[in-house]
Amino acid sequence: MTEADLAIVGIAELATPEGTTARTGADLSRLKVVRDAAVACRRGRIVYVGPEAGFRETVSVVPGGTVLDAEGGTVLPGFVDAHTHLPFAGWRDGELDEVLRGATYAEIAARGGGILATVAATRAIEPGALVELVRARLDGMLRLGTTTVEAKSGYGLSLEAELKQLEALREGATGHPVEVVPTFLGAHKVPGELRHRRSEYVDRVVAEMLPEVARRRLAESADVFVDRGAFSVAEARRILQAARAVGLAVRVHADQFAEDGAAELAAELGAASADHLEHVSNAGVEALARSGTTAVLLPGPSLFLRERRLPPTRRLVEAGVPIALASDFNPGTCPCESMGTALWLGCLRFGLSVDEAITAATLNAAHALGRAEQCGSLEVGKRADLVVHAVPNRRHLVYRF
Ligand code: NIG
Ligand code: FE
Repeated sequence: MTEADLAIVGIAELATPEGTTARTGADLSRLKVVRDAAVACRRGRIVYVGPEAGFRETVSVVPGGTVLDAEGGTVLPGFVDAHTHLPFAGWRDGELDEVLRGATYAEIAARGGGILATVAATRAIEPGALVELVRARLDGMLRLGTTTVEAKSGYGLSLEAELKQLEALREGATGHPVEVVPTFLGAHKVPGELRHRRSEYVDRVVAEMLPEVARRRLAESADVFVDRGAFSVAEARRILQAARAVGLAVRVHADQFAEDGAAELAAELGAASADHLEHVSNAGVEALARSGTTAVLLPGPSLFLRERRLPPTRRLVEAGVPIALASDFNPGTCPCESMGTALWLGCLRFGLSVDEAITAATLNAAHALGRAEQCGSLEVGKRADLVVHAVPNRRHLVYRF
């Protein structure tokens, strides 16, 4: 008999990808599906996943253990959100009317909105208040079914303020059930005070910020926003090579508003992920497939900015690029932290099938964060990160958007 301290029964449908690495191509949609299922866990690890019939003969719940009735719900792995800008202060709802009038992201930034508006608010907030914001947002994400989340700095743009963001993440995550995977995004934008001295800012990121972030172990990866309004491919290459030299994995905000060759750069550097990709070239798709870099698709900001150009989802899948879905939660282009929303948008707007989207929002996202051995699927030995959705089957999560 296997002993368990938590059992979940009454599951109409359990669906999960399987494995400890990303699924690609035709395997992206290959889920294990169990009708009338049960799951059992012990000390936070899964010890049984399978049919409820026969479960009582295999698993015994220890005295004082919990048996939960899923009441005919659907169980999936907890969502893994592989791209967020979580530790910011201040909303930018004042930009909404401009967005709705059709102003572009670049126009809003030129009028004093955009990333630098959030930088001002984030620099101004007390560290303790930022920690409270982080905790409250993690609580909210957990309620929405997210159990692991990547979170980027990038609204400090000075050593002190970037460290404040990353430290707030560390403190906010301590003891919280959601696991936070931190990323240093000092190269999100050149700060206003250095706008005429951009090379000085790049030097600071390379020589000052990256080594200090690595020394304090405040981030696992570094990211660069490659864009006309942010950093060039050449600047990003320099920053990300320096990131690798101090032991960080690398990520790239790539080809969101134009074909910049940023996906090719991500592939060249063996990046863990290339994110956005609305304008990725065919060569970029091929390069990502060769390097095994995960394409993190972000349907939330695409919807919010009412972008007509969508990422080449099918081409990416057919080329064998690992696909993940993420929220891109941030105050400017996606003030929505719901992975359930990213899931249905990933289907209804980006053209993933339901089962592809589930893999993209769980196992493949865990792979992009270097966590596929621990979470992202419901299998014996993995962390007991699972969510009961109050729907009769997984299709309803998209169908009833
Ligand atoms: O991923 N693209 C750049 N960064 C964010 C937006 C940040 C902001 O507007 O505050 C994004 O969309
Ligand atoms: Fe982003």
